[in-house]
Amino acid sequence: MIDRRSSAPTGRRAQLRPGQHPRQIAEYRRQLRIRLTTIAMTLLAVLMIALVPLLERGDGNPTTEAQSAETSAEPHEQLDWSDTSALPPLDTDLDLTLHSTDDPSSIWAVVNKARPLTPIDWQPDDLDTVAVSVNGDGERMRRDAAAALHDMDAAAQRELGQGIQILSGFRSYQRQQALYGAYERRDGQAAADRYSSRPGHSEHQTGLACDIAETQPPCELCNEFAQSGLGTWLQQNSWRFGFVQRYETGQEQTTGYMEEAWHYRYVGVPLASWMRQHDVHTLEKVFGLPDAPDYTNP
Ligand code: DAL
Ligand code: ZN
Repeated sequence: MIDRRSSAPTGRRAQLRPGQHPRQIAEYRRQLRIRLTTIAMTLLAVLMIALVPLLERGDGNPTTEAQSAETSAEPHEQLDWSDTSALPPLDTDLDLTLHSTDDPSSIWAVVNKARPLTPIDWQPDDLDTVAVSVNGDGERMRRDAAAALHDMDAAAQRELGQGIQILSGFRSYQRQQALYGAYERRDGQAAADRYSSRPGHSEHQTGLACDIAETQPPCELCNEFAQSGLGTWLQQNSWRFGFVQRYETGQEQTTGYMEEAWHYRYVGVPLASWMRQHDVHTLEKVFGLPDAPDYTNP
């Protein structure tokens, strides 16, 4: 009788048959083990070859993941934007002639000491009051810029825990004239020209620029803002909403103005992200326009 408690394999081909010699059986089992091992290794190899492409697709490469995240509806919230590799794919094909740089109604209008608005007292016809955390004076910007600033404020509240205070948005020719005049009287023309535009030469007159401060404690129009929580967050994130810091440190020869950590300009997301990716810091350089350190008609 066969002892069912024995460790003999129960496979059909390895069962003990009457008349078989134990040594034949042992040899038979050895060959069976070799065959089974060979089959198992072949199956394992086939499985690994099939799995390699699948593993490569989920390799955790931040650029790959940012690219796929960029195509989703709310792509930005979960990413670390201090990591430049998390930027969306570079749009090398961005057509830099898509919008005019001369027309004051263009979101790519370049206004500086050598490029006044034409006509000199132009003003937008789509101004909206900006809805941000603090807008004490009811500042206005052009519709798209105001909407983008509203989104940026909401994101700052969500991601940073504090929102935006807008100190100044659109300024008319007359308002700029009064402001510049006051600075000129106080500090003299040469000093005023380093931080304030003469009327007809200010980006604020396009309705696309704004001066931003923290809500608490406000550091108003001071360059310490660059190191503040909101200032740092804006440097990393404003491009997501189509804004760029217009007057960066070290660019006075090109822009004509000292550093203004608080002055942001709306240019739209494609150009703002393009500038960040290409490490280009002024609109003059983007569009190959001449440096504008001084007024051409003083
Ligand atoms: N502060 C900037 C240059 C302006 O007055 O428009
Ligand atoms: Zn400003």
